[in-house]
Amino acid sequence: MDASHAVSRLHDSARVTVPSHAVPTPGDRLYQGRRQERTGSMGELGADRQEAGTSGQAKPLLRVLGGDSVWPPPMWLMRQAGRYLPEYRALRVQSDFIGCCTTPELATEITLQPVRRFGMDAAILFSDILMVPWALGQGLQFVSGEGPELPPIRDQAGFEALDRGRLADAIQPILETVRRVRAALPPAATMIGFAGSPFTVACYMIEGSGSRDFAATRTMAYARPELFGRIMALLEDVTVDYLSAQIDAGAETVMLFDSWAGILSPMQFRHHVVGPTRRIVEALNLRHPGTPIIGFPRLAGTLLRHYAERTGVDGVGLDTVTDPRRAAVEVPEHVALQGNLDPLALVAGGAALREEALGVRDALRGRAHIFNLGHGILPHTPPDHVAELVAAVRG
Ligand code: CP3
Repeated sequence: MDASHAVSRLHDSARVTVPSHAVPTPGDRLYQGRRQERTGSMGELGADRQEAGTSGQAKPLLRVLGGDSVWPPPMWLMRQAGRYLPEYRALRVQSDFIGCCTTPELATEITLQPVRRFGMDAAILFSDILMVPWALGQGLQFVSGEGPELPPIRDQAGFEALDRGRLADAIQPILETVRRVRAALPPAATMIGFAGSPFTVACYMIEGSGSRDFAATRTMAYARPELFGRIMALLEDVTVDYLSAQIDAGAETVMLFDSWAGILSPMQFRHHVVGPTRRIVEALNLRHPGTPIIGFPRLAGTLLRHYAERTGVDGVGLDTVTDPRRAAVEVPEHVALQGNLDPLALVAGGAALREEALGVRDALRGRAHIFNLGHGILPHTPPDHVAELVAAVRG
């Protein structure tokens, strides 16, 4: 999609209440097919990898999750929908954030905005990891400029106030969004569903807000293991059902965001990150064989290898501070790598952006790689820099 095309679409979607033109037109880049080269066993990283092109998948992103190396790598960006896009802000005035997530017309349109504007290889459901506590009846509010706030769970009574029975009904609008997005996506683009991992969601449920170190949560894990274990077991169970429902509704892969995995001690990481993730992956593999799962254990550091080997995920998201060359050596070859451009390089743009982006892309050439950021897009990112990034990665 050229720039003038993008701008005219942007104006269209800013004007319309709930745009009816959510489906990209045949003029869009994704309909024209990607320039694809299959890379065989190549380069320093790929000497003994499974031969490319064996996954049997047609969509570039699913091929990579099946273990193929695709060049240039398929790409999408964490938080690709959101406040940095004027067309998002234009729709966002109609509703608060939770309202946007639970109104399929709005959530579908918002999900599709970055796919349409930039020709991303994937759409990620517009929702939030905290829609799970919301669906369990824990009051959730997003306070502008402050982030999420929930009544913190600090005792058995707080836990018992959660209502597992609300979940199935409460998530219906989110599942409807998944169905609509899937139906509207260009043929080469992949629909990604997601949830927070039990530990990261528990952090917000117990702390009641964001935090630098989630001290109350980690203290509960040590001092009240039974209560903490109940919260984690509930989240594990609910996360399986929630992701399974997203897959039934049309999600072609699902991602588990474990943004706070890196604040745990190594032993606690094994208990509260690797264990639950492995069980969720096993349960989903049984219910949905062939649907790949991406894990994002942010700041896992030296435990990344253990996570990749033991959880059974098909892909791992690399955070900004992970060296992709090192990850390529440590993570088993059959596990795809996703990441990991610094979101601040995207804010900066220009030569620094290009250098960093090509550095990441080229470090993983020959590896099953999905290009992405190392964490979510920042709200003050100029949208033009995203367009520059897409051109650079595909150039
Ligand atoms: O990636 C996408 O485009 C899909 C949508 C998505 C959102 N949040 C939308 C959102 C996804 C995948 C998330 C995940 C999420 N949410 C995580 C894990 C990833 C990460 O960033 O570490 C976490 C920890 C949350 C919890 C959360 N949601 C916080 C802490 C905040 C406030 C901070 C902020 O960025 O505003 C949110 C709000 C939120 N989630 C917004 C969006 C677009 C901003 C809401 C608004 O428009 O006001």
